[in-house]
Amino acid sequence: MLVLLVLDLADGQGLKVGFYQKTCPSVETIVKQTTAGFISRTPTLAAPLLRMHFHDCIVTGCDGSILLNSTKNNQAEKDAIPNQTLRGFQVVDAAKSALEKKCPGVVSCADILALVARDAVSQVSGPSWNVPLGRRDGRVSKATQALADLPSPFGNITELKATFSSKGLNAKDLVVLSGAHTIGIGHCFAFSNRLYNFTGKGDTDPTLDPNYIARLKSKCKPGDATTFVEMDPGSYKTFDGDYYTLVSKRRGLFQSDAALLTDSETKAYVKLQASSRGSTFFQDFGVSMVKMGQMGALTGTAGEIRKKCAFVN
Ligand code: HEM
Repeated sequence: MLVLLVLDLADGQGLKVGFYQKTCPSVETIVKQTTAGFISRTPTLAAPLLRMHFHDCIVTGCDGSILLNSTKNNQAEKDAIPNQTLRGFQVVDAAKSALEKKCPGVVSCADILALVARDAVSQVSGPSWNVPLGRRDGRVSKATQALADLPSPFGNITELKATFSSKGLNAKDLVVLSGAHTIGIGHCFAFSNRLYNFTGKGDTDPTLDPNYIARLKSKCKPGDATTFVEMDPGSYKTFDGDYYTLVSKRRGLFQSDAALLTDSETKAYVKLQASSRGSTFFQDFGVSMVKMGQMGALTGTAGEIRKKCAFVN
């Protein structure tokens, strides 16, 4: 019994569920209430908050570096092009200021973001999972690093698998975590090549359903830099298993979504979830999120506990 408990609490990197039990016992309640307050008013914030945690972790580990502002001499991750569509920083800031009142200088911004992402997903009918805590905040944030490390929506399966595996995530994590695209939006510029100029000859992507192409063309005109579409049309505010049905019907929005059908392992997962109404997706998503949330985390005395999430101390 004791062994099981220890195994449950500890992980390979020194993060643990209940890390703040003595130092800030109300941390999870405060973050949950804050997140719920925002998302009940603006459900579309859940998606960018989940994406923000992913973008934090995949670039120099889950160290809150996505939250730092640029300075006179440094362009931060936040201002790299793929991150310019992130929203919801105010949710993390609000949770941080509530926590600073209750337990000053104790809870890291990186941990707050991991909790906010979990609570945002469950608030829009998705799964919930235990978040191992104890991350510390980094002091470095570089836009160039974000550009180098973030996966591209134009990526093929080899590139996507390489990006994920360089961070310790395997093909299963890739296909499971991509299911996050069941919520949120995508800007036309991230997929309009598939509609208008796939190989430079004014052609369309043959792997994209032609009926879907027609629908997307009616929304996205060539060169459109501002319009966006729902990634899971009709239920883009609800976290469900629809993503796999869409991808299997050749209606994944990005090339990176369609690419999941070009590898036997990821394809098998897509087909399984599509044919079983996402039977194991929620469970799998929690497992992969915990794994993702541990990537490169700073622990012990590394880094710092920021006073404000947008600034180093
Ligand atoms: C597999 C590689 C991935 C690629 C290439 C990718 C790419 C993208 C792109 C281009 C967008 C559209 C952004 C916009 O136009 O505003 C997007 C949105 C999104 N991504 Fe991913 N993504 C990937 C994996 C992930 C993962 C692992 C997660 C989370 C676990 C995630 C969560 C999201 C969410 C929730 C949105 C919607 C954001 C919103 O509504 O503002 N993505 N992604």
